[in-house]
This record gives sequence, structure tokens and C-alpha cells, in this order.
Amino acid sequence: METPRMGMPERLVERLSMAEQHEYLRSRLSRRGLLRGGTAVAGSVAGAGLLGGSANAVGAGATARTGPTLVTSPATGHVDGALVAPFGRHLAFGGDPRTQMRVSWQVPVAVKHPYLRVGVEPWELGHKIPAEVRALHTPALSDKGAAVDQVYLHAALDGLQPGTTYYYGVGHDGFDPASPRAFATIGSFTTAPPRGTRAPFTFTAFGDQGVGYHAIANDSLVLAQNPVFHLHAGDICYADPDGQGLPADGKDYDARTWDQFFAQTESVASRVPWMVTTGNHDMEAWYSPNGYGGNEARFAFPGTGPDKADAPGVYSFTYGNVGVVALDANDVSYEIPANYGYTHGRQTAWLDERLARLRELAGIDFIVVFFHHCAYSTTSAHASDAGVRDKWVPLFEKHKVDLVVNGHNHVYERSDAIRDGAVSKQVPIGATAHPDRDGIVYVTAGGAGRALYSFPVADSYEGHEKRIDDVRTYHWTKSKEKAPETVHWSRVRYTGFSFIKVHAVPAAKGRTTTLAVSAVSDTGERVDHFTLARTAK
Ligand SMILES: [Fe+2]
Ligand SMILES: [Fe+2]
Repeated sequence: METPRMGMPERLVERLSMAEQHEYLRSRLSRRGLLRGGTAVAGSVAGAGLLGGSANAVGAGATARTGPTLVTSPATGHVDGALVAPFGRHLAFGGDPRTQMRVSWQVPVAVKHPYLRVGVEPWELGHKIPAEVRALHTPALSDKGAAVDQVYLHAALDGLQPGTTYYYGVGHDGFDPASPRAFATIGSFTTAPPRGTRAPFTFTAFGDQGVGYHAIANDSLVLAQNPVFHLHAGDICYADPDGQGLPADGKDYDARTWDQFFAQTESVASRVPWMVTTGNHDMEAWYSPNGYGGNEARFAFPGTGPDKADAPGVYSFTYGNVGVVALDANDVSYEIPANYGYTHGRQTAWLDERLARLRELAGIDFIVVFFHHCAYSTTSAHASDAGVRDKWVPLFEKHKVDLVVNGHNHVYERSDAIRDGAVSKQVPIGATAHPDRDGIVYVTAGGAGRALYSFPVADSYEGHEKRIDDVRTYHWTKSKEKAPETVHWSRVRYTGFSFIKVHAVPAAKGRTTTLAVSAVSDTGERVDHFTLARTAK
């Protein structure tokens, strides 16, 4: 028997795209009279373009994009600002990490004249830079839900000096971060070094975090690595705990989970640029046709992705000798196809062009790509998505990408070097791979905090190695079926909360430069390590 979900028969909702679900939710709530006439106005909120940054792509080519339509409520600030303290500060690079930083934060109620102050000394913050207000209204999406109003504030800093530490404070009328009572709220960040600098640096990455004690433990350990940026490979906070890309997901949707998430994340993200991309749980149908309208209100994305695709989680930036590319795998996933093909091929075309450009860019030795769904994983829950294999893996191999980082599977798993779907070189724990000739190592780093998955065979990780060369698993096909396969590339498996740490050591032209990759558990144990090496350009 079919179960009606949000008034729709099951066989119908399975086929709805995210855009159709958005329309459905809007019309259903409109019929129920839940759209508030006086304060709910359709406003246009742009991505990075509205922040006033030049948001240059690597090289050139980025233009300001028109963002999705959001339902916003005016943040007029009728509460005494002295009663309100900002929370949930989170940083993000603009298109050029050497000169651009975006500072974002939240207030629990609307405030008057929100602003940012910044300076090179914490006791000498500069003038007030007005913040952009992105107020987000979420109606009750089910009978047990509640309407939520959230106020996000964003300020763009352009023209910064490379390799420089800045201090900043955020405030509003009645709350001045430069005043003695608010001095402890001051944060800091450091811009990327000038081109040609060869100082080593570390960055970190994980996916599938949510809120909770394991998520907090991972954040603490991430901060302790002193990373210059952090990558979050999607499934960010799980305000939508179902994540199937279906209208029924709305029944459990709770926008307030984002408040918990930003409060949890502030200890790291107020100091470390926190670069997110979008997973299946980050498609939130209420806000916009592609489900990313809420994300665009909450985060400042670099805006260096393909034009007019409305894909905020698609962008690239460079730091030192590393080029980083963020992708939105909802565009190619066979398993959860609600946004399948929503960029009409623009993302994949952009990826091909961007990888080629990064490969040619002077001073860039390594390319790291991160996104949500796995090309290569063996867990019993999601395993591999052939959509990623079909659309993107050929481009990764064509441009000899050095490292691919995914989430979606809530474990740590790491492959041997792979080419054409098979092991091209075994990379045991502690080994070195040369991506230009050996193939690509794929890392699943989905153990950031959400409930763990399991493997079909025993774990095998540093100090607990149980070599198994044949793993019976499956991949998702275009017809959304699980196709069995026996694979030989699952080299490291760890069922535990964890993240990865990547230590880059640049080198002079013609010398060997390395990326040392470690997986670290939320109790601080190293569970894997390997090295990627190239000849510096
Ligand atoms: Fe997840
Ligand atoms: Fe996921």
C-alpha cells in the first residue's frame, strides 16, 4: 500500500526533482495560508557577488551570479542591541585567498546597523564596515514544526595584504567589539601567502558532521592542527535528517539545527576559513528551486564556479602550491537524483576547463578536488556512485588530479591509486604515490560526527592492518539500482570518527614537493598516512 507523504503518493514523490518539490512545498503552504503576507517577501539574494568582492576566478572568468529567490523578512532591529551578542562567526575565503576574506555571523534577533571592524592589531580595529543582512524565514513545514526566523550577516574584505594576520570584531548598534566588554569576542585570520612563497602549510578536511559530541571533538582536533583552511565535503549540519531529496524530508526539517551548528563550529571557523560544499542533506527544498537558497543565506561562497548555474558549492581557489576545487555531486549522483543534471552540464564543462587552467597555472603543483558522493567506497550504506565515475573521474584522470576527498559514507576509507576503475598502483599505509604516473588516490573522510556506517569486511588501518584485497561491494547505476562488484582498491578502512590532515611542503622548481596526508581519529590517533609527490613546476 502506498503511504501518502505530505499529501503525495509515494510513486509520485520518488520522481520529483528538487525544483518540483520546491514548487510543491510553496503551493501547499500557500494554500494553508502559512506564508506570512506582511513580512514574507520574495527577495533576491545573490551569492558572493553581493558581498562586494571582486571574487576573481583562478585566472579570470567569474562574474557575479544572480542567486535564488529566498523568502526573507526585513531585519529592522526593534530589540535593544545592547541585549544581543553575535554568535556563530564563520570565515570563508573569497576568490583570491591572498587578498579576500568573507566574515559571516548570526544574531538571534534582528539588530540595527550590523558591521565589521578589522585591523592588524586587536586593540586597533578600524572603522565600521556595514554588513549585508540575509534574513531567512522558514515556515512550519509540518504540523509538528515551528516557524523559524534567522538573521545572517556577512561582510566582505577585499584588497587585504597577502600573508598577513588580521584581527576582527563584529557588532551592531549597542554592541561594539572594540569596547572593553566585547574585547574577548575578537577573532583573527591570516591571508594566504604571496605567490612564490615556499613555506609549508597544513589544511584539514572532513564531511558528514552534524551536531554532537563527536563533531565537537573533531573540531577541537582540527583546530589543534593549525590549518590554514578547512574543507567540509557536504552533509553539513543535518537540519534535514532524512536527506533523500524527497518532499517527505520536510516533515523532519528543523532550521534551528543550523543555529546549533554555527555555535558548535565557531571555535574553529572564527579563525580558520571554513570552506563548504553541498551534500544530499544540504538540498533544502523550501528555500529555492535547487534547494541551496538557505545555504546562500548562511554562507559566503567564493563565487568562482560556473556562471548562472546557481551552484554555490562549486568553486575553486589556490593556496600556496595547491589548487582546490569544490564540486556539487548532487548534480551527478545516480543514488539521490533530486538535483541530477540541474546545472545542465555547466558544472562538468567548468570542471574540465578549471582543471586544465590550474594545471597550467604557474606555481600550482597539486590539485585537490573535494565533493560529497564517492566514486570509490565500499560501505554497506552508500558505497560508490557511478554518476561520479561516469561524469567526473575521466576528467580527474585526464588532468591528473592528485587527491580526491569525499564524504557521504560515514567512515574513513582510502583507496590505492586508481586508473580506469582498477588499481594502478598499490599504496599501503606509509607509502608514497606519484599521481602524475601512478593514478589517483581517493579518500572518503565522512566520519566528522554523524552516526557511523559499516564495511562489508573487517577494518584495516594503521596499527590494525588486516589485508583484504577483494571486497564485495556495489555501485549505484543510472537506473538507481545497486550493481554488485568485487573491488581490489579498498586499502584502508576505519569505522570511527575522524578527519584528514594534509601537510604541503612546496619546493623549488625541479625539486620534489609533497603532500603528506594523515587520517586522525577524534581521539587523536593516526589511523592512516601516505604521501603524494610531484616535481615542482
Ligand atoms: Fe551523510
Ligand atoms: Fe550524504
